[in-house]
Amino acid sequence: MESRTHDLVVIGAGPGGYVAAIRGAQLGMNVACVDENPQLGGTCLRVGCIPTKALLESSERYAEATAGLAEHGVRIAGVSLDLAAMLKRKDAVVAGLTAGVAALFKKHKIARYEGRGRLAGTGLVRVQGKDTLELNAKHVLLAPGSSCAPLPGVAPDGDRIGTSTEALSWAAVPPRLVVIGAGYIGLELGSVWRRLGAQVTVVEFLDRILPGTDLEIAREAQKLLRRQGIEFRLGCRVTGAGVEGGECVVTIDGQEPARGDRVLVAVGRRPSTADLGLEPAGVVPDERGRIPVDDGFRTSAPGVYAIGDAIRGPMLAHKASEEGVACVERILGRPGLVDHDLVPGVCYTEPEIAGVGRTEEALVQAGVPFRKGVFHVRGAPRARCMGRIDGRVKVLAHEKTDRVLGVHVIGPHAGELIAEAAAAMAFGASSEDLARVCHAHPTLAEAIKEAALDVDKRAIHA
Ligand code: NAI
Repeated sequence: MESRTHDLVVIGAGPGGYVAAIRGAQLGMNVACVDENPQLGGTCLRVGCIPTKALLESSERYAEATAGLAEHGVRIAGVSLDLAAMLKRKDAVVAGLTAGVAALFKKHKIARYEGRGRLAGTGLVRVQGKDTLELNAKHVLLAPGSSCAPLPGVAPDGDRIGTSTEALSWAAVPPRLVVIGAGYIGLELGSVWRRLGAQVTVVEFLDRILPGTDLEIAREAQKLLRRQGIEFRLGCRVTGAGVEGGECVVTIDGQEPARGDRVLVAVGRRPSTADLGLEPAGVVPDERGRIPVDDGFRTSAPGVYAIGDAIRGPMLAHKASEEGVACVERILGRPGLVDHDLVPGVCYTEPEIAGVGRTEEALVQAGVPFRKGVFHVRGAPRARCMGRIDGRVKVLAHEKTDRVLGVHVIGPHAGELIAEAAAAMAFGASSEDLARVCHAHPTLAEAIKEAALDVDKRAIHA
């Protein structure tokens, strides 16, 4: 079998793996990246973040053109949906970005192998697929990502009952859509199809939506999404789903079933660690299939590292990228570091929902004394001009030190606004610091300043 030698072999070309590969090449390593998919970029670029955001953008334009522009004095008659064009645009966005990663690989002289990579001994990776060969490597970085978690009794049939992958490409708007799971995927893709005309019912096991998100913000999100026509059935455990008499029937423990024309299963993701040659290498995944690593992302096998969805922490693209960079820097003796307490999360509904740091519930539970500032988006003049006044900003600061412990936002462009909070917190800012920074007027970011002022009950426009 053909064999090649590299300093670093990365398995997986998602946002964790491809970013790590580029950072390794920047630092002078001879790098290879193995992925069985011909398109680089992993789930995020191919069937995750990027196509979802493309459809969220397009569907929001459609919704706005249909019903949101008259208040601005813009009247459009005869708005119609060209779903095929919308899907084609989404595919073009994906193709452009995956080609961009390929171009970056070329620029950095990163060898790319198409096939399944598995550990095959110390310093050895075997690739099987379009490319079949052996790779010798000083360092192996596992970045295999995750896949949709199955739900017992609910078998995706590739047609009526599907996962997020299928829900990105349905050729027609389902009249009635049942979404199982009120997490990021359920709410984002539920929003897309709701805006395009589907009647959407979200069935959720917990008594709240968006687990892990600050509860006050999640409650507001539920209220606003309900206003958009999304129906929520909380406290409902789905036990099965099937097609009966031409419709999908989702069975719920002790309750009336939910019926629809399509079902989206969005009950979480699980690490893709099953077929990597881990066991012979002496690496034992934990009970959730995650690869145990130390602070330097080292696994129990010498020279083997792991990052991203396959290890502990939130399953987010940007977290994986940060880990990829830090891991490679640590391999080369540099002080790479990821502050896992400061990974922002964004749900790209309308309005967006974003947070960084600890939630109010987490602080209460940990017994940390804190003060809270809240500012309603409608108090920001820019939001009035935009006609997008729903939402609020919440700043949580330590009662004694005033250090910012968490910032949570629901409102227009929350995903962009949260970056300011993350940067401030990374520098150890107090709410006073945030409040004294001069924010341009009129901007949505003024709501962050006002919420920080409200920690001390001195918001100007409250
Ligand atoms: P999730 O874990 O966020 O939410 C799944 C939901 O399904 C939970 O609320 C859970 O209580 C519910 N559930 C589980 N079993 C159920 C049952 N039998 N009946 C009813 N409800 C049930 O998972 P999701 O939304 O699938 O996302 C997967 C991962 O992808 C997450 O880690 C998420 O952070 C990430 N993601 C991030 C995005 C972003 O950053 N914007 C977008 C999409 C996904």
